[in-house]
Amino acid sequence: MAKGRIFSGMRPTGRLHIGHLSVLENWVKMQDEYECFYGVVDWHALTTAFDDTSQIKDNIREMLIDWLSAGIDPEKSAVLVQSHVKEHAELHLLFSMITPLSWLERVPTYKDQVQQLGQEGKDISTYGFLGYPLLQAADILVYKADTVPVGEDQLPHLELCREIARRFNFMYDTKLFPEPKAKLAKVAMLPGIDGRKMSKSYHNDIAISASPQEVQEKIRMMVTDPARVRKDDPGHPEVCVVYAYQQIYNAADVENCADCCRGGTIGCVACKKNLAAKMNEVLEPVRERRARLEANPGLLDEIVIAGVKRARQEAAKTMEEVREAMKI
Ligand code: TRP
Ligand code: SF4
Repeated sequence: MAKGRIFSGMRPTGRLHIGHLSVLENWVKMQDEYECFYGVVDWHALTTAFDDTSQIKDNIREMLIDWLSAGIDPEKSAVLVQSHVKEHAELHLLFSMITPLSWLERVPTYKDQVQQLGQEGKDISTYGFLGYPLLQAADILVYKADTVPVGEDQLPHLELCREIARRFNFMYDTKLFPEPKAKLAKVAMLPGIDGRKMSKSYHNDIAISASPQEVQEKIRMMVTDPARVRKDDPGHPEVCVVYAYQQIYNAADVENCADCCRGGTIGCVACKKNLAAKMNEVLEPVRERRARLEANPGLLDEIVIAGVKRARQEAAKTMEEVREAMKI
């Protein structure tokens, strides 16, 4: 049986944190089972950040390096930048002809976001932002991808994508587009080091690219059980950020870790040291791949050029079929 095809993308928001690492680990796993296209969707970033584009090129590079260091393999997957594959824009334009405005206006997140950003003083009642999910549908359908690994927040966008595919197929009497399914993965929800949601803007994140020393330092700053004053005070691991990380990075020993904490037989300093050692072990191969990329500055460009070429081949083929179906 032919392999299924995947498209997924991320907006270039700058360096990724370890929360994203579990998303990328899923992408990495899928490389053998599916034919994968992974795109940095820079036009999507422009739907909100159109007024300050100063960081976008750097952000694209950083994101690509994070992906490749996490194990995305350009021999297996096409790694591309959305704006380098102009077919995304052509398909978006053609979809915009057949999409009722009401479909876009009723996407659950749309009005909320316009309002929320409006309160923050930013006007995104633009044509481009309204069309965000349509551009996303074009990203997916230009490769005729049937499977889309995304988070739960993206389900309404995927629903719209299927509706567009169905409408196009019906309107032009064709079977050209599949109706792509979301593939939800269990991703570990790691809190930031202060216990809030992990976010670069809160300065409570750990970057995928963090050095061993940075990892140690961030873990040293993690909030623990406030009831533990002395190291033999009994602790409550369930309220401790360090413990949330132990569950992911030290899964084999996590029961023991909880027992020691509750029994007051390990101090937080020692517990944090254990965690740092485990996390650094996991991040080591990621660092090695990053070092290899950084030692060869031309390599990233080569990888993107090859990925874009492969992507364009597929996208151009789809667009020919689209024009034929539409008789244009
Ligand atoms: N909207 C997605 C997000 O914010 C990013 C995205 C754009 C995407 N195009 C896509 C994801 C196509 C999957 C497939 O996460
Ligand atoms: Fe958290 Fe570990 Fe301290 Fe318990 S011993 S409170 S799990 S850091």
